[in-house]
Amino acid sequence: MTGLPAHHPVETLRWRDGRLEMIDQRILPMRFEYLSYANADEVAQGIRSMVVRGAPAIGCAAAYGVALQALAHQHVNADEFAKAMDHGFEVLAASRPTAVNLFWALQRMRESVQSHSQLSPPQLASLLLTLAHGIAAEDVRINQAMGAHGAALLADGARVLTHCNAGALATAGHGTALGVFRSAVAAGKTIHVIADETRPFLQGARLTAWEMVQENIPVTLITDNMAGHLMKQGEIDAVVVGTDRVAANGDVANKIGTYMVAVLAHRHGIPFYVACPLSTIDMQLANGDAIPIEERHPDEVMGFGAQRWAPPGVNVRNPAFDVTPAELVSGLITEKGVVHQPNEAKLKKLFQS
Ligand code: MRU
Repeated sequence: MTGLPAHHPVETLRWRDGRLEMIDQRILPMRFEYLSYANADEVAQGIRSMVVRGAPAIGCAAAYGVALQALAHQHVNADEFAKAMDHGFEVLAASRPTAVNLFWALQRMRESVQSHSQLSPPQLASLLLTLAHGIAAEDVRINQAMGAHGAALLADGARVLTHCNAGALATAGHGTALGVFRSAVAAGKTIHVIADETRPFLQGARLTAWEMVQENIPVTLITDNMAGHLMKQGEIDAVVVGTDRVAANGDVANKIGTYMVAVLAHRHGIPFYVACPLSTIDMQLANGDAIPIEERHPDEVMGFGAQRWAPPGVNVRNPAFDVTPAELVSGLITEKGVVHQPNEAKLKKLFQS
């Protein structure tokens, strides 16, 4: 089992010797290792295979993927450079479909390429790398702002359920939902985190539990099917989760199982909050029905790692995300403040202010 040196923040992505390094989240918490990436194809594979995961972290990785693609091809002729860049954007955009941060980051990188067409490939490569660093640094600042707004919603001593991992590992640092817990603890509150295991990829059991244990934030791990019982027993005061995409009407796509938690929270009168940077809101989509839901490989449901427990030949479904209707969302915690009972008018206003 692995741990970080004391007071060492999790660096999900880092730039080392002209390459991107990312923590291999498939093997945490048993091993803590970085893998190294040199071009867009490699980064896309890292995203697809879940070395890096979590909406904001995927966006940051994609931005670095574009910068790496430019650096890797900066010495070829202009035509070949343009072709390599088109390929880079394409392969990164095809890596995972649900988290809108991926497309948001690619769009920012593309706009920069288009508005600097007069630059030589080496100049453009250097500019794209600066932009990727900027997107990662901005993500941490946004998470800290969300953390402050979200922390104010939690009472001292609150027992808060979270689903999946919306922590430092899912972002460039601090986290969204776990950022709220970190900020509340930093403000002097006692917070007890209840982490859903999050079948089938176990982001809760492996990643959220690991992050909280690293920082001595009290955490209790439960399997996903225990949440209703704990709510009924009065052992959960609030739910805070992250999100991969929020539609214009406030419908929330997040890790499979989130909808079930939201329905349970509603039934038990428990507030259900979603930590959501503006980069995760997709005003192009009228409602959650239009959000593409990734369907992943059956192997993830049939076992974990090398271990298999389901019989070969069984039919399997593996949707990786679900959509929680806006009516079940008590509030979206954004970097601009909390949007209570979100709807289209409130979200539009958020982008205007
Ligand atoms: O499949 P994953 O692990 O990428 O799914 C991650 C989630 O669903 C997170 O809750 C979401 O991306 C928010 S992360 C701040």
